[in-house]
Amino acid sequence: MAAQAETAAASPIGVFDSGLGGLTVLRRLRQHLPGEDFIYLGDSARVPYGTKSPETVRRFALEDVAFLSRFAPKVVVVACNTASAVALPELRARSAAKVVGVVRPAAEQAVRIAGAGPIGVIGTEATIASDAHRKAVAAIDGRIEVITVAAPLLVPIVEEGRPQDDPVVLSVLSDYLRPLQRCRPTVLVLGCTHYPLLARAVGKLMGPETHLLDPAEAVAEVVEQHLRQRGLLRQRRHEGALRCFSTDTAERFAGLARRFLGHEVDDVQWVGTDELTGAGREAVEA
Ligand code: DGL
Repeated sequence: MAAQAETAAASPIGVFDSGLGGLTVLRRLRQHLPGEDFIYLGDSARVPYGTKSPETVRRFALEDVAFLSRFAPKVVVVACNTASAVALPELRARSAAKVVGVVRPAAEQAVRIAGAGPIGVIGTEATIASDAHRKAVAAIDGRIEVITVAAPLLVPIVEEGRPQDDPVVLSVLSDYLRPLQRCRPTVLVLGCTHYPLLARAVGKLMGPETHLLDPAEAVAEVVEQHLRQRGLLRQRRHEGALRCFSTDTAERFAGLARRFLGHEVDDVQWVGTDELTGAGREAVEA
């Protein structure tokens, strides 16, 4: 029995995103859980998810989870806000492992910090259209006002690597943040994997009264709590390994990963989208 528990604890944590952005979530997870092994899948060949229909995002996300399930993960983290916002119930229904999204943990932490609110949320088109954050906050406290703004141009801006004080960045941000500046939210949820990389610029525009919330912190706490409660935490003396898979070339992924993860990644493998599609089909038919 003890050996069985040890084997379960030794299973990796699976993390996926539409591309590289989810590495900002992985970064925090690894800081929190340094003894854990991680498998990361970045669906860079099909990024962005945030401009696609909910049906397409669901299909892609199911394929991503089916691929990760080959590694028998003890938890799957949906690092992508868009996939968390539109696909979580389907992912949970199809996965043998616990599936943790980023929307609910972010909403819970936002409510904890904001008290009576109001809470602002910026995210991709699909995330904002889903109203997932508003619903998550309402489920906790229906009296809190939630102001949401879609900010689709920020993903390509971050991917392009523009510095935060670049005039284009500031001009685009100023435009998106105008309605939020008027409402002066107590908390602003950075509801997209890429936005924490613009936190300094967003903070400058919103002012010190608005607390910027990067969901990664809350997600790491939820995952840690889940593992601890089930005795699935890996011993800290084990140095956690990281294996990455990308649907775009491994070279491009490795080249850009540093900016999101904070360090180089050396174990990156290419996985074709046709292989993901196969994994998805197997999962649906099983
Ligand atoms: N990872 C996505 C998210 O957090 C942003 C990039 C995309 O649109 O796919 O919503």
